Amino acid sequence: MKILLLGSGGREHALAWKIAQSRKVEKLFIAPGNGGTASVGENVNIAADDFPKIAKFVVENCINMVVVGPEDPLVKGVYDYFQNDAQLKSIPVIGPSKEGAQLEGSKDFAKAFMMRHNIPTARYKSFTKDNVEEGFAFLEELEAPYVLKADGLAAGKGVLIIQDLDEAKQELSNMLEGKFGSASATVVIEEFLSGIECSVFVLTDGDSYKILPVAKDYKRIGEGDKGLNTGGMGSVSPVSFADETFMKKVEERIVIPTIQGLKKENIVYKGFIFLGLISVKGEPVVIEYNVRMGDPETESVMLRVKSDLVDLLEGVATGTLGKRELVEDERFAVSVMLVSGGYPEEYEKNKEMTGVDEVTDSILFHAGTKLENGKLLTNGGRVIAVSSYGATKDEALAISFKNANIINYDKKYFRSDIGFDL
Ligand code: AMP
Ligand code: GLY
Repeated sequence: MKILLLGSGGREHALAWKIAQSRKVEKLFIAPGNGGTASVGENVNIAADDFPKIAKFVVENCINMVVVGPEDPLVKGVYDYFQNDAQLKSIPVIGPSKEGAQLEGSKDFAKAFMMRHNIPTARYKSFTKDNVEEGFAFLEELEAPYVLKADGLAAGKGVLIIQDLDEAKQELSNMLEGKFGSASATVVIEEFLSGIECSVFVLTDGDSYKILPVAKDYKRIGEGDKGLNTGGMGSVSPVSFADETFMKKVEERIVIPTIQGLKKENIVYKGFIFLGLISVKGEPVVIEYNVRMGDPETESVMLRVKSDLVDLLEGVATGTLGKRELVEDERFAVSVMLVSGGYPEEYEKNKEMTGVDEVTDSILFHAGTKLENGKLLTNGGRVIAVSSYGATKDEALAISFKNANIINYDKKYFRSDIGFDL
């Protein structure tokens, strides 16, 4: 079959790498893709949310399946766009409907959904300009630190965690006044939860489901989880505290009620569900839903999916996921992200990269690179994810760190403590 994958990051390179290994795939296109995806498929110069151009390409190239990497096209309704077009209707889009994508597109929607289905999550209330005074009162009821979340998509920046009550009140006003544009016209305030986080990925056809290997990501720029939030500095899989007992609770209390809840509410959902979880004294609680795979979790999770991913995606498309097999690789997989100096603030691009061809025992997923006149150049804040297998977490990390030192470019930076807390 012919597959079109939408997106352009490290996550998409990892998905493309895995999809391209399937014997079922005759041709893989990535729109728009990056310097890395070009090595496993053919890049197409179309933005991931340019639906008319995507539709035209799909028809002209007889594409049999569209796999959506990032949240943007999903929240904008790419699934519904295909469903509402007679020519496109029969082509499966792996991802939720626009309504299902609200699990990520609106934190207020997600929280209300969890309440309706008794899914464990932090106590919360939502506020708009019209009831800001009630928001102040709710903050007074809670204890520090205060968690304020922009309802809508804010490129990963919409969550504020504040120690001081007066500052929290001020930020609530700022957010409602448009600090994150229309994304913060509604603000969710919730109770702060203390614990360790992990990412659980579920693939569903709307009825049955498979739980993919569990991972943990490292979001902060600095070692010891200090400093600014980034798009992700590394990931590991599996996660020691997410053991069988924990995962059984996740499945019973979160995965099953989520899928049954979607079904009960007639919300069409055929794709990945990303559960951002926190373990509060061993009890899993949902911090957030995302409607896609995580980045950079995918760069380690895909290494641990032994089965043919396309077979599973076909199961999603045809409602036969329950009959397909998901086999996990027993080994550890880790991913260490090399970034541009200065990231996540200002940084420079177009630095010539060396050493990439010398790496033989890691899998390199490109996040922000480009090939120009035969030279590989940096082209983003996050540049390349160095992913490795190992019999232990430390063995896998040692390989990634070794190769992170072989690859070079001006102002390269990476965290050498990925996995430190496990
Ligand atoms: P989110 O964008 O919802 O993933 O939030 C970003 C990060 O903020 C999460 O990964 C957590 O580390 C933190 N966070 C969000 N909600 C809470 C909460 N209720 N308690 C503690 N930390 C939180
Ligand atoms: N790694 C977290 C995310 O993809 O949102």
